[in-house]
Amino acid sequence: MSDEHESPIITTERLNKMYGSHLAIDGINLEIPRGAIGILGPNGAGKSTLFKCLLGLITTTSGEGTVLGHDIRTEGESIRSKIGYMPEYNALDPNLFAVDQVRYAGELLGMNSKTATQRAHEVLEYVGLKDQRYRKIETFSTGMMQATKLACALVHDPEILICDEPTNGLDQRARSFMLQTLKRTVVEGERSVLMSSHVMDDVQEVCDSIVMIHKGKIVLQGYFDDFAEQVDKEIEVVIWGGASRMEEELATDGLEARRLGRVIRIKVESESTVDKILNAAVRAEVQVRQMKEYEPDLEDIFLLVMEKLGSEIKGSSELMTPEHTGES
Ligand SMILES: Nc1ncnc2c1ncn2[C@@H]1O[C@H](COP(=O)(O)OP(=O)(O)O)[C@@H](O)[C@H]1O
Ligand SMILES: [Mg+2]
Repeated sequence: MSDEHESPIITTERLNKMYGSHLAIDGINLEIPRGAIGILGPNGAGKSTLFKCLLGLITTTSGEGTVLGHDIRTEGESIRSKIGYMPEYNALDPNLFAVDQVRYAGELLGMNSKTATQRAHEVLEYVGLKDQRYRKIETFSTGMMQATKLACALVHDPEILICDEPTNGLDQRARSFMLQTLKRTVVEGERSVLMSSHVMDDVQEVCDSIVMIHKGKIVLQGYFDDFAEQVDKEIEVVIWGGASRMEEELATDGLEARRLGRVIRIKVESESTVDKILNAAVRAEVQVRQMKEYEPDLEDIFLLVMEKLGSEIKGSSELMTPEHTGES
């Protein structure tokens, strides 16, 4: 493998962006590898501002950054020619046919008319709008408009796709299709995707890692797999009979358990934990109806990671709550 594949595609160092006296991006340091990464944070966290800085669309206040080796302060045009950008807000012309809108996006990126037209057809099919190519955008649903925006972002076959809240306003079906298409772009297309969302589930469906931002600062960063490893494994048993006797017996054996009705989750300490649980059940004279390894969900993981970080933020739901911004 060449070095180029190993080096990060996006870096920032002490990146700051102020709007007037309001610090929207506060000292962000990033090293983003190839693949799919989610930028997660509540409204006002600074996600869109970060993207615009990376694309060289707005000037940074201080700090530096690169995208595919290009300086975000001076080489915005080169960056935008290599990156597909799906902005948060609607940038489509309602009077255009979808195919013309996408072709036009390609021409703006410097493609000749013939290539842009050919690509417009290809990418519209890719985003599921083959049959709607010759319809005016004003007749489109939100899902179809988001798909058209994605087609515009993909028209020049960019190495990196930056999607700002791609699932915003979509119903369940459109959302699921959008996420699948992004995932396919990463897995089959071998492109990198940087997507923002204020919904954990969306990011988890597409990305292997996340950066969580809150009030312009990174509060958590890493791979989902690593988060999972930081969480204690548990075995979940469903029992029939005296659950409190079972709890006592587990405690006698020094096992850590938490009970939710007939379900008890026991922390795995060693390979003998399963045997200990079964022995405790015999002593407690209860029936074990079901026994399985408990898979913590993302919310559990974040709670625990946050606790371990000693953060004052207690859970992702708190992170996901919009902030009153503007004050210091
Ligand atoms: N053009 C602007 N002028 C002034 N303040 C802005 C502007 N754009 C964003 N902000 C402020 O910067 C902060 C970050 O906004 P934004 O990047 O849009 O967050 P997000 O995309 O995470 O919702 C917010 O407090 C927002 O009000
Ligand atoms: Mg935004």
